[in-house]
Amino acid sequence: MSSTRTVVVTGSASGMGAATKAVLEADGQRVIGVDQRDAEVIADLGTPEGRAAAIAAVTEASGGAIDGLVTWAGVPGLTHVPGSVLVSVNHFGTVALHEGLRPLLALGDRPAAVAISSNSTTCQPGVPMDVVQLCLDGDEAAARDAADAAGSLGTYPATKTAIAWWARQQATTEAWAGAGITLNVVAPGAVETPLLQASRDDPTIGQFIDQYPIPIGRKGTATELAEVVAFLLGPHARFFCGSVVCVDGGTDALFRATDNPTPWVP
Ligand code: NAI
Repeated sequence: MSSTRTVVVTGSASGMGAATKAVLEADGQRVIGVDQRDAEVIADLGTPEGRAAAIAAVTEASGGAIDGLVTWAGVPGLTHVPGSVLVSVNHFGTVALHEGLRPLLALGDRPAAVAISSNSTTCQPGVPMDVVQLCLDGDEAAARDAADAAGSLGTYPATKTAIAWWARQQATTEAWAGAGITLNVVAPGAVETPLLQASRDDPTIGQFIDQYPIPIGRKGTATELAEVVAFLLGPHARFFCGSVVCVDGGTDALFRATDNPTPWVP
C-alpha cells in the first residue's frame, strides 16, 4: 500500500478540475489529469475510442491501482452546441471512466470516486425526461437523438440528473460499496469558471446567468468546490455512500426547500 495517494481528475485543464488538481497536489497527492488538452492523459471523453484510450493510459500511468477518481470533464448547454455532445461527454463519458477505472479503484487504498452533477437538476425547469431515461438505459445513440431534438440548454440538466441517479444506483452495489469503494456525487451551483463565462456569453441564456438567485450573495469559487471533492476523496468521508452533495450557495434550498428530504409515506 503506497502512502502517496494517486487520484485521477478528468477535466483537469480548467476550472474546478484544475483547482482540484492543485488542491490535491498541494496535499502531496499524485494526480493523473485527463482532458482533451494540457493533461497527463489527453483524450476526448465524448467518443468510445477516446474513453478506451483514456482508461488504457491511466492504467499504464498508475501501474494498475488508483485511490481516487473525480470526473469534472463536462460541457455546458449553449445555443450553438448540439445536445448530443452533452450526452456523450457529461453522461456516457463519465459512466465509462467510472466503470473502466473501477477495477483500479478496487486495488487502491480507501478508494473513493466522485461524479459531478449540477444544481440545474433541481433548479432549472423543463428537464427532458426522455433523455434522462435513455441515458440510464445506456442507449447512447437514442439518447443522442433525443438530446439533439431537445436542444443542449434543456439537455444539460438531463445529463446531470442521469449521472446523479446512475451514481446513486451504483454506489450501493457489490461492485462499489461491496468492494469498499465509495461513490458519491457533487452538485455545484454557479461557480466562476470558464464554463460559467461561456454561459454568460451565450446569446440565449447569457442574460440570466447573473440574475439567478444565490442566497449567499455570490458565485462559488473553483477552490471551494475542489476542497469539498478533496474531502469526499479523503479518509474522513468513508461513511458517504451514494450521497448527492449540493454546494450552491443556497439556490436549491431557496427553490426546493421541502422537496429534500422527501419523506417515505406508504
Ligand atoms: P471548465 O469548462 O472550466 O472545465 C471543463 C473541462 O472539461 C475543460 O478542461 C475541458 O477541456 C474538459 N472537457 C470538456 N469536454 C471534454 C471531452 N470531450 N474530453 C475530455 N475533456 C473534456 O468547467 P467547470 O466549470 O470547471 O465545470 C466542471 C464540471 O462542473 C462540468 O461537468 C460542469 O458541467 C460542472 N458544473 C459547473 C458549474 C459551474 O457553474 N461552473 C455548475 C454546475 C456543474
